[in-house]
Amino acid sequence: MSAVKQAHAQWSSRMGFVLAATGSAVGLGNIWKFPYMVGESGGAAFVFIYLACIFLIGLPILVSEWLLGRRGQKNPINTMQEVASISGSSRLWVLVGLGGVLGAFLILSFYSVIGGWSLAYIKDALTGSFSGQDAEGIGAIFSGLLASPATLIFWHSLFMLITVGIVARGVTRGLEKAATLLMPALGILLVLLVFYGMTTGGFGQALEFMFRAQWSQVNGGIVLAALGHAFFTLSLGMGIMMAYGSYLGEEVNLLKSARTVVIMDTVIALAAGLAIFPIVFAEGLDLGEGPGLIFVTLPVAFGNIAVGWLVGLAFFLLLTFAAVTSAISLLEPVVEFVEERSPLGRAGSTLVAGVAAWALGVLALLSFNVLSEFLILGLNVFDLLDTLTSKFFLPLTGLGVILFLAWRLDKEDVRKELGLDVYDFSLWNLIVRYLAPLGVIVVFFANL
Ligand code: PHE
Repeated sequence: MSAVKQAHAQWSSRMGFVLAATGSAVGLGNIWKFPYMVGESGGAAFVFIYLACIFLIGLPILVSEWLLGRRGQKNPINTMQEVASISGSSRLWVLVGLGGVLGAFLILSFYSVIGGWSLAYIKDALTGSFSGQDAEGIGAIFSGLLASPATLIFWHSLFMLITVGIVARGVTRGLEKAATLLMPALGILLVLLVFYGMTTGGFGQALEFMFRAQWSQVNGGIVLAALGHAFFTLSLGMGIMMAYGSYLGEEVNLLKSARTVVIMDTVIALAAGLAIFPIVFAEGLDLGEGPGLIFVTLPVAFGNIAVGWLVGLAFFLLLTFAAVTSAISLLEPVVEFVEERSPLGRAGSTLVAGVAAWALGVLALLSFNVLSEFLILGLNVFDLLDTLTSKFFLPLTGLGVILFLAWRLDKEDVRKELGLDVYDFSLWNLIVRYLAPLGVIVVFFANL
């Protein structure tokens, strides 16, 4: 009797953990960012490099973050302190945790802006704005949104308010439950949109664009972008997965869990591409549209299919939901940090962190209109935040995590913890000691 109970409890905890991690991983990165990066970077070669980064670098780092979190049992900064002192390593490893918190804060600021766009599109779907519009009309809706600072600030504020509200009350548990229903729904809707894509006449070209590589177009910048996005989409290099690992029991198999999360994340991103690019080709839209890509393509579908307003409404509701589950995982470590180092309580810390990220977000959204000429290092504020995080913070903290795991921990302990036999473990070691770190270092420094 008790054996049965135990087996069940274990299963549900692993499921809950995998779903929570998937909730953080799957978000705007998959549906908003991945497709436009593919579009900007010339297609299939980027996709393949991205996949290689996901499996050869992202997956091992995901496992490493969980493993360290499970050992440290604390927030990322204290976890790094703890595992460093246990292994007799330098206190400087704490920088890995600190870099993570700062990265999370910077990402949250512009993430909320895009979450706001998704909210704005819920309203547009509700009011039937997409119906009967061609690509030009849909494009006009989007440029109208970008041109109005007040509208952008309104939706950005609402998104941040939702995120802050949830984190302040600590109701993430209920959200996890909801995610178990809503994430699959988002997946199903995406698949339906892929089917719509097949009817547009642009599907063949989309497939070719996404999967027939033109290697001659590849340059270092593209490789760094793919690497950075692999970190972004798996929520790595920010201590977030480390925090999730700290709630983990001994019995959970890290490699298997990582495989599940990575596959779900990848499938959703590819499906988003297959839903969007057929419309781009069929309508003759610009592949290099940038961050607006999804907002000028999918509504064309919603405006032209039966009950499209409803499909559009469902889509943007689910997208917003996916964005919120990721945003709370971005805010959480920042709040934890403020809370531990200040006299403000939970609510006060959440407010301070939220307002600070919100203010930075306002600067970011102004770069789509009044501040579009305001450049730092040749980039507007939005691009600067994106570049700083994806191309600097995430790869460097991720590198710290994997170096620590591979070189500072007892190898035999790690092998047992991962449940690998000696042969598989030598492959794992090859990857975490040499391949993944060298990959990050070469790509990173080649671009400096
Ligand atoms: N992984 C999330 C996404 O793809 C974004 C995110 C990054 C969330 C980092 C948390 C931490 O949308």
